[in-house]
Amino acid sequence: MNSITATAPIRAAIPMSCLHFSGGYSRAVATTGLRCSGSLLATTRQQKTTKRFISNTPQPKIKEYFPPPTAPHVKEVETAWVHPVYSEEQMNRITVAHRDAKDWADWVALGSVRVLRWGMDLVTGYRHPAPGKEHEAKFQMTEQKWMTRFVFLESVAGVPGMVGGMLRHLRSLRRMKRDNGWIETLLEEAYNERMHLLTFLKLAEPGWFMRLMVLGAQGVFFNGFFIAYLLSPRICHRFVGYLEEEAVLTYTRAIKDLERGKLPAWETKGAPEIAVQYWQMPEGQRKMRDLLLYIRADEAKHREVNHTLGNLNQGVDPNPYAAKYKDPTKPHPSKGIDHLKEKGWEREDVI
Ligand SMILES: [Fe+2]
Ligand SMILES: [Fe+2]
Repeated sequence: MNSITATAPIRAAIPMSCLHFSGGYSRAVATTGLRCSGSLLATTRQQKTTKRFISNTPQPKIKEYFPPPTAPHVKEVETAWVHPVYSEEQMNRITVAHRDAKDWADWVALGSVRVLRWGMDLVTGYRHPAPGKEHEAKFQMTEQKWMTRFVFLESVAGVPGMVGGMLRHLRSLRRMKRDNGWIETLLEEAYNERMHLLTFLKLAEPGWFMRLMVLGAQGVFFNGFFIAYLLSPRICHRFVGYLEEEAVLTYTRAIKDLERGKLPAWETKGAPEIAVQYWQMPEGQRKMRDLLLYIRADEAKHREVNHTLGNLNQGVDPNPYAAKYKDPTKPHPSKGIDHLKEKGWEREDVI
């Protein structure tokens, strides 16, 4: 798995493909899906005859969904969750991986992720190619299709950390007991996922159908996850761990498509300023490929963190990503790749 270390761990999601809209790109009238930036116009033009595609709005016309603070006396807003700096080598080392299910609880979590993934792929007309194979022509991904998938994925991915953090916060309040470091890690995961979403919204503009889908998904997923977390937080963290495995797979495939020249509009496209600042992307490493590498590294960290949290005694164990032990030589809940190897984590380089 990845070896990226972070003092404040970062955390992902169900991908999804896009929906179609009526009208040509020149009118940019979106009834569904996303409007993508101007550099993607050529691709969309080719898609006018296909069933599933998204509308485009030239870059300057993309609405500023999250403009900088308008108060004249505010220059910028500082965050308490400064992102740790990743090296290129660390990001390139991320691989697709899978943790074997060990007990019935793991199977419940893995089964739920598989059912969700299957349902969404079916509804959105997406199909993962078999390992080592290419996409069938009708399932060929484009910049717009990836972008729609990312936006939906990230809008859902920000939910679990917030629900888990909120419930542990409330438990701490009503029991009047310390939480031992879980809350901040979970909330920071939700923040990190929201930053992924904000970044993609600088590159694409959702249409009303997409917004409706996000609204519906959030309503169902938030409430479902809320109840599930009350019943079994351990299964929920395992569920998120498996979900993050899917997120790493999704971003890895998008990166491969980009590297193989299947996404020409992204080859020269730069990462938006919000991303450059958040990940502290160095000069010369600010293209779309770099952006996807940063986001994939975050998802891999979420994968590790949630599988680790899923291994712990939820009410007793401290968060190993935050705790500093008085006597580190004694056995304690641990984190990272060695710990996960012990617990059955295995590499699966299928791409
Ligand atoms: Fe994630
Ligand atoms: Fe994400």
